[in-house]
Amino acid sequence: MSEINKKRIAVLVSGSGTNLQSIIDNVENGNLNCEITYVIADRECYSLQRAEKHRIKNLLLDRKIIDNKLANEIIDSTLKESKTDYIVLAGYLSILTEKFIKEWDRKVINIHPSLLPKFGGKGMYGIKVHEAVIKAGEKESGCTVHFVTNEIDAGEIITNVKVPVLEDDTPETLQKRVLEQEHKLLIKGIKKIL
Ligand code: GRF
Repeated sequence: MSEINKKRIAVLVSGSGTNLQSIIDNVENGNLNCEITYVIADRECYSLQRAEKHRIKNLLLDRKIIDNKLANEIIDSTLKESKTDYIVLAGYLSILTEKFIKEWDRKVINIHPSLLPKFGGKGMYGIKVHEAVIKAGEKESGCTVHFVTNEIDAGEIITNVKVPVLEDDTPETLQKRVLEQEHKLLIKGIKKIL
C-alpha cells in the first residue's frame, strides 16, 4: 500500500500502555500500514513516556484539571486537525461523550480483557474483570476488540480470542495470559477496520 493510502490512527490511553507499545512496534516494523498521529492520555501515565520515546505527538488532558466534556471537545478538534482516520482506545478509562461518539461513528475501537458480552460494562476494567471471571468459575476467558458506542463495551464485535482459565489461576495470572493475547488481537482488529 502506498503512503497515500496510509491510514492515520490516534491512541487514547490511561495506563502503562503495553497495548500502545504493540501498536507502535507493529507500525515501526511495517506490519501495520498506518501512522500514529497522536497519543492522548486522560492522566499522567507511562504511555506518555512510550510516545515520547518514539517521537509520537502526545497530549495530556488531565481529568483532575479538565472536565470530560471539554476534554472530548479538545480530542475531537485535535484529531480532526491532524486528519486522524481512526481512534483506538487502549486502556482508556474515561467515557467518551455521546456527541463525540456520534461524530466518530464506527471510527473508534476499544480492546476489552474478556469475552464480551460477558464481563463488560460499567466498572468492569483492569483486574476487576479477571476477578469476576474467576469468581464466576468460568473455564475460559479471552479478549475482544469492538466498536465503541454509547453503551459501554456493547458495540459490534470486530474480533475476539479465547484464553483458557486454569485451575490455579489468580486474577493476576489470568490477566497476564489475557494481556499477551490482547497485544496480538488489537493489531488484528486494527487491520480489520483499516
Ligand atoms: C488492557 O487490559 C485493556 O484490555 C484494558 O486496559 C488494559 C490496558 O493495558 N482496556 P495496557 O495499558 O495496554 O498495558
